[in-house]
Amino acid sequence: MRQSLRLTALLLFVLSSLLFSTAPTHSQRAPNVEQRVNALLAQMTLEEKLGQLQQLDGEGNGNFRPEHLDMIRKGLLGSTLNVRGAQRTNQVQRVAVNESRLKIPVLFGFDVIHGYRTIFPIPLGEASSWDPALAERSAAVAAQEANNVGLRWTFAPMVDIARDPRWGRITEGAGEDPFLGAAFARARVRGFQGNDYGAADKVLACAKHWVAYGNAEGGRDYNTTDLSENTLREIYFPPFKAAVDAGVGTLMSSFNAINGVPASANPFTLTQVLRKEWGFDGFVVSDYTSVKELINHGVAGNEEQAAALALNAGVDMEMVSRSYNQFGSQLLKQNQISQATIDEAVRRILRIKFRLGLFDHPYSDEGREANALLRPESIRLAREIAGRSMVLLKNERGTLPLNKNIDSIAVIGPLADNRRAPLGWWSGDGKEENTVTPLAGIKAKVSAQTRVLYAKGCEVKEDSTAGFEEAVNAAKQSDVAILFVGETHDMVGEAASRASLDLPGRQMELVQAIHATGKPTIVVLVNGRPLSIGWIVNNTPAILESWMGGTESGNAIADILFGDVNPGAKLPVTFPRTVGQVPIYYNHMNTGRPPDAENRYTSKYYDLPWTPLYPFGYGLSYTTFKISNLQLSAPRINASGKVTVSVDVENTGRRAGDEVVQLYIRDVVATMTRPVKELKGFQRISLQPGEKKKVEFVLGPEHLGFWNREMRYVVEPGQFRVMVGSNSVDVIDGKFEVTPN
Ligand code: NOJ
Repeated sequence: MRQSLRLTALLLFVLSSLLFSTAPTHSQRAPNVEQRVNALLAQMTLEEKLGQLQQLDGEGNGNFRPEHLDMIRKGLLGSTLNVRGAQRTNQVQRVAVNESRLKIPVLFGFDVIHGYRTIFPIPLGEASSWDPALAERSAAVAAQEANNVGLRWTFAPMVDIARDPRWGRITEGAGEDPFLGAAFARARVRGFQGNDYGAADKVLACAKHWVAYGNAEGGRDYNTTDLSENTLREIYFPPFKAAVDAGVGTLMSSFNAINGVPASANPFTLTQVLRKEWGFDGFVVSDYTSVKELINHGVAGNEEQAAALALNAGVDMEMVSRSYNQFGSQLLKQNQISQATIDEAVRRILRIKFRLGLFDHPYSDEGREANALLRPESIRLAREIAGRSMVLLKNERGTLPLNKNIDSIAVIGPLADNRRAPLGWWSGDGKEENTVTPLAGIKAKVSAQTRVLYAKGCEVKEDSTAGFEEAVNAAKQSDVAILFVGETHDMVGEAASRASLDLPGRQMELVQAIHATGKPTIVVLVNGRPLSIGWIVNNTPAILESWMGGTESGNAIADILFGDVNPGAKLPVTFPRTVGQVPIYYNHMNTGRPPDAENRYTSKYYDLPWTPLYPFGYGLSYTTFKISNLQLSAPRINASGKVTVSVDVENTGRRAGDEVVQLYIRDVVATMTRPVKELKGFQRISLQPGEKKKVEFVLGPEHLGFWNREMRYVVEPGQFRVMVGSNSVDVIDGKFEVTPN
């Protein structure tokens, strides 16, 4: 009897883990992978092995280079990037499958970062939704579109933590926080890969850039980094760990050096942490020519040495430079690399190709491509996500939402009718002709009687103010002016670091000129990084951070401006007052002299408040919320125990709306300095007017510990503060104690 009960329980457990498990199940769909890999490996020549380690770039516009076909025929090229289109990838694949000796299929990769053809908000914007489930859905659409144009691999998600808005690539990640970053990393990997990246409509994901790329000194792209192992483990690693735990198949090694050792030749990060500690069994691709760049870093005297350093450290596939291919056999003869190292790199790549099902289904269905892109449900989702990603920064005296029957509106600014900026830097194959601009979105939203006047005013980057007069006149003739200012798509992203966080060009003067008309002036920011917009904050009544909202950006902006969508997003990154405060982030250490307005000799600025313009986690709604009644399930837990924290959240306004309830902790006394606050829980909830909900968070050892001086993860006994609020500053407090186990 007891036996059968146990059996039933076991069966139930197995069944429920099959049904509800989110763990990857690649091996189930592609059986005997390891045997097949080893059998294939045993037949490969050294040249063919090195060929699998090579990835080359296409010619532009999705085309391959004629040279590729020849290399593939000889087994000298395992993967391409940027080659796409079902017909084209099939053409290349036919050469691999029909004309190469071992018929190893080619793996086609591309940067599908926030959409392939249907473009979603930039990842920093999407992270502002504080709703990882949305990111999973957008990544799933991106995967579906990409898969149908012959792609099997995306170089995403970018999960780099960024604490420096000068760095243009802050736009591609989830912001400054490791906990929020890990949640989005997990969600995006799931969205791209599902439970099986070999399934139809899925692609293999690539967590990048491993690692600390976002820590570039001075915010200057590709720059070196110097940071403690604690900071690496606590701030920069967690989103990667989350991606690995979610089953990500590949990682990309970054351009930067970490404490003197370039990330693309770093045995500590590539082998010790990734393979030995985390058990990652996929493969690592270098970033674009980052193997060859080891020469510029000054750790390799020539390409031959660069190849040996990268391969021995754990970079399996080389993107674009050809050092492995050219020098591999020589290095092997000289014992600079071992046969086992080459075999292991090949094994990792073949393993993924088998799991992807590439050997069994190497081709794409050319007939599906046309119906796969920009499906109505994808566009609807893009609009929904954009609306949930835009942050209301200011709204004095209920300036917003506007009435759709308003008599007249002036729509002003260089980004009001710009189709390119909302697509952001990486825009896949997104097209301007499919982009809804704010002007179009507003026109579609207002009543037939409303007069909409449009004036550009100035360009984003240029110096002319010739258009100001027209813009001022438009404002004067209207009930309200809405200004669209910010950055162009190429001022953010790769190689787009900025030394200033001000609005570029004459845009600030344009805002001032419109404001001087005395008309209510609403500012909508279209940008990819935090900007220092102090004057606007001090002078204009309403500000919406729309980020670069993707294909449906203009409709989503109009939804918010006219109240069809109540904004509920929150900043995933701190907004500094000026660039001089950078780096500024909420989870900083305390110092021995915390800032004190009354005391000169404390940690602050002589000429500026120490506080940010807008704190991490900040954002408004058209309704108001009250968070109260913080309760703990126990005043004391032991170091391996758990405590439940609850609060009541009430919608105290007159509209239905969303609040992102955020939980922070502080380890009050520890053997090392600890951050003043660390995010350890968040929930975005919807409440009707007057509705009240209890929100619960569970804290356990995975939240309470840190990496100590001996580089061990420990939960130290002592007092903890717990803070819950609507952003990282406005919180209510509780405390509990951790006792030794
Ligand atoms: C360089 C970028 O750093 C990386 O993010 C991207 O995936 C590759 N180029 C390929 O386009």
